[in-house]
Amino acid sequence: MTEPIALKLTIAIDGPAGAGKSTIASRLARKLGYVNLESGAMYRALALKAIQSDVSFDDEPALVGLVSDLRIRLEPTIGGNRVLMGKQDVSHRIRETDVTLAASRVSVHPKVREWMVAHQREMGAGGGVIMEGRDIGTKVFPNADLKIFLDADPEVRGQRRLLQDPASGVSAEAIAAELRERDRRDRTRAVSPLVPAADAIHLDTTALSEDEVLQHIEALVKEKLK
Ligand code: DC
Repeated sequence: MTEPIALKLTIAIDGPAGAGKSTIASRLARKLGYVNLESGAMYRALALKAIQSDVSFDDEPALVGLVSDLRIRLEPTIGGNRVLMGKQDVSHRIRETDVTLAASRVSVHPKVREWMVAHQREMGAGGGVIMEGRDIGTKVFPNADLKIFLDADPEVRGQRRLLQDPASGVSAEAIAAELRERDRRDRTRAVSPLVPAADAIHLDTTALSEDEVLQHIEALVKEKLK
């Protein structure tokens, strides 16, 4: 295991669903002794709250009302982020298909994003943080020390999603359809669409193992720390 390093970088990892962001961010954070913050979990928590409160995913003012009252906490654990909404542990529920699709819908609204970005900046303010999402390098931390854009072929991303939760009963076709729909919405929304930051390092993980991706990023981190 690598020793925790004194200099605390801010690392942004962006990319589409299934590119490997969460797994890599969580493993890298453990190796470096950094905090791993999964910004998607915050949009997922808001989506869950909207479902529970019967608020339309298209109703921006009502969603802003919900998000302002939402007490979202991300607790980094060995297996990724534990997500608390108030006192409720929603870590598993927010990964289910209805919440996943809703997260992509509630995240198109500019005022919802304003709130999220402000809180994400607060959470990562101290450095020593790896934040992953869609707009971390472009919007949340445009001055991040290291920006990685992870991508992979859609078929491979779909396969990875399937392997993550083989017991879910969701078919490969349904997962592929969900990924396509989310990709389209996340990449084409008017505000902070999923695009690589101009200074992001692109890493196509299609043919790489998790270990290979991790080694590659660790080498980039070492370079930055020189
Ligand atoms: O990373 P994820 O799959 O948990 O993200 C769920 C949704 O949240 C994703 O489809 C789009 C949205 N999201 C976003 O708009 N901006 C982020 N920084 C992270 C996620």
